[in-house]
Amino acid sequence: MKQNLAQVISNVEATPRVHLLWLESPEIAAAAKPGQFVMVDCGEDVLLRRPLSIHKADEAKGTLALLFAIVGKGTNWLSQRKGGDKVDILGPSGNGFTVNPKAKNLLLIGGGLGIAPLAFLAETAAKDGRTVKLHHGVNTAGAILIDAISPQGTPVPISSLTAAAKHSDTIKCTASTVDGSAYTKGLATVCLPGLAGWADQIFACGPMPMYKAMAKMPELKGKSVQVSLEIIMGCGRGICYGCTIKTKNGLKEVCQDGPVFDMEDILWDELK
Ligand code: FES
Repeated sequence: MKQNLAQVISNVEATPRVHLLWLESPEIAAAAKPGQFVMVDCGEDVLLRRPLSIHKADEAKGTLALLFAIVGKGTNWLSQRKGGDKVDILGPSGNGFTVNPKAKNLLLIGGGLGIAPLAFLAETAAKDGRTVKLHHGVNTAGAILIDAISPQGTPVPISSLTAAAKHSDTIKCTASTVDGSAYTKGLATVCLPGLAGWADQIFACGPMPMYKAMAKMPELKGKSVQVSLEIIMGCGRGICYGCTIKTKNGLKEVCQDGPVFDMEDILWDELK
């Protein structure tokens, strides 16, 4: 884990109150794996660092991206950083996703901002020659992180617009909205009955109700499903035990043992 005073390259509002922040941080970009996060110092008025998923990492350029919503003082401060400013980050932290070497077909489901770490996983897996289906579920059309339509006519998340992903046939993107204002009507999980059978492995990132619903879905019984937990963290370094959860294998700290867990290992009824 490295502590780095990273220079801001760009900071744009991707959708209302959601920012895409690119930072220069060669050491962390080189070490980052999909599913890991960084702890971000959000200014002197905010005591605790904020954990943010690594959304992209470009080792060649020495850059990494964070996609975050403005939800409080810390993220509001972060949203106001401009090109050339410095941001103190610590990472990469956590275990990240584990792709089975034999898995060919990967299904990725991002609920809301859960798309952030999955875009990184999608690109990495596609570069490794796997076929990826990435589903983005949001409440309403304006929250979809999309700014282009792929040649196949499917939505491409803003996060996937690298040359590799844009022109790749190995990442297929779909989307759904709860209010039905665009694409398929329904929750992020709406894609699961149709696609779970196709997938060798499933990776999900989203809110707790999404995971609790997934844990009960018959289509996922016996499937390899990894979930990235988004819970409140204190130190982010295994010191405060503020992120402890109960699993079938005992108590685990999300910041150290996670944030990615096998879905079947978590005692979902014990989690709020
Ligand atoms: Fe402190 Fe995980 S956040 S132990």
